Amino acid sequence: MSEHILNICYLVASVTFILGLKMLSNPASARKGNLVAAGGMSIAIFATIFLYRNAETGEHLHNFGWIFCGLIIGGIAGTLAAKKVKMTAMPEMVSLFNGMGGACAALISLVEFNHLSKELALNPGSEFIASSQSTVLIIVLGLIIGSVSFAGSMIAWGKLNGKIKDFSFTGQNVLNLVFLLVALVLGAYLVTNPLHANFIYIIFILALLYGVLFVMPIGGADMPVVISLLNSFTGVAAAFGGFLYNNKVMLTGGILVGAAGTLLTILMCKAMNRSLKNVLVGSFGGNKNAVATGAGAQGNYKEITLSDAAMLMSYANKVMIVPGYGLAVAQAQHTCHELEKILAEKGVEVKYAIHPVAGRMPGHMNVLLAEADVNYEKLEEMEQANDEFKTTDVVLILGANDVVNPAAKTDPASPIYGMPILEVEQAKTIIVNKRSMKPGYAGIENNLFFQPKTSMLFGDAKKVLQDLCTEIKTV
Ligand code: TAP
Repeated sequence: MSEHILNICYLVASVTFILGLKMLSNPASARKGNLVAAGGMSIAIFATIFLYRNAETGEHLHNFGWIFCGLIIGGIAGTLAAKKVKMTAMPEMVSLFNGMGGACAALISLVEFNHLSKELALNPGSEFIASSQSTVLIIVLGLIIGSVSFAGSMIAWGKLNGKIKDFSFTGQNVLNLVFLLVALVLGAYLVTNPLHANFIYIIFILALLYGVLFVMPIGGADMPVVISLLNSFTGVAAAFGGFLYNNKVMLTGGILVGAAGTLLTILMCKAMNRSLKNVLVGSFGGNKNAVATGAGAQGNYKEITLSDAAMLMSYANKVMIVPGYGLAVAQAQHTCHELEKILAEKGVEVKYAIHPVAGRMPGHMNVLLAEADVNYEKLEEMEQANDEFKTTDVVLILGANDVVNPAAKTDPASPIYGMPILEVEQAKTIIVNKRSMKPGYAGIENNLFFQPKTSMLFGDAKKVLQDLCTEIKTV
């Protein structure tokens, strides 16, 4: 009876995962989607703790003290970390949590191999060995993928918080490949000869080394793509755990995470017009110190005063705001919403143009603006926004750079050539707010800043927006 209830709980949980994922695709339902999936996961966890029975021995789980200690410590640590994290540090936290998932999958493999090898030592007959081989294969694959994901995620986390610097040496890619190949060959050997139990630890160490060296040379700014890829690895490793325990909900959850992570990685690469190979072995975004000058190769830029900018926007019919990474850095989303409301009171139509890879993580701008209670209906996706720029009087760019760089359309030599952009130059006037002429993530100059229609409004986004609000109120 308890087995049937357990299976129903797993089915319910699997359905909530799928529904939750679906709801995550819309900002209006994303918060609820997260709760629905978390509710499903809680059902799966507690059903396993209280209803699971070992098929051979009929035993229920015991060690409740250990289980609940782990649940409470993990639950408190996770809640505190998620509550404290700043939006700009979100990729860092996702990486850390993802690494924990990979570590879990690797530990499951080690523990289960230990159990199996004890049984094999008691019963080393060829029949039992043959029947164990498929289990060893699942264990080895889960161990390699989980360890790579754990080690890689820890390096990504260190890089994003600045504790680890990019590091590479000649021949690194070849050495990486050797580590991976040796791990795979040893894994294949272990599957055919599971009595050589110590090999599992060599495979574990090689996979960890591969994970470290694989992520180490990748440019720090490319980390969100790598994290998404590692996330899919963790999903696959968890799915192997599902096979191992014949646990349907673990299998479903793992496959969903693996598939979602893979799709997200592909979408991010597409939106940046880069191949995954280019992200993994290229050095895009490395030139963080490049500085454009006021009269550089691109010509002169002009500045606009706060009062002129306020005047232009107050008398406009339509203003489109383009948020970017700088808005998140300045934490100016609330002040931005304030500006939108003040302009709307003056009869100006205000909308936001959202580029799919603005910021540093998928949906970054949507989440940022949602935090400030900006109405979702005011958010225009790139294609819609590009249609609207023609009828826009003022585009106000707040800490965005690459996503409005026309080189993506006009300069085949540019590293961002081919990346779809917000075509802001179709509007009548463009005001760009940033702190300096420094480049953005791609490390390249932006010709838009030097065009006759464009004016620069320098300063921290929050301060500039606060001053703009004050000025507009007096117009
Ligand atoms: P960026 O091109 O990175 O430009 C951000 C700009 O914000 C910088 O030029 C910076 O100039 C300015 N800024 C920084 N702090 C500021 C502050 N406090 N106040 C005002 N301005 C500030 O940003 P974007 O246009 O959003 O483009 C995102 C980039 O990240 C793209 O190249 C994209 O491919 C990449 N990327 C995105 C993702 C996802 S999924 N979103 C993942 C990986 C990579 P100053 O220093 O002069 O102020």
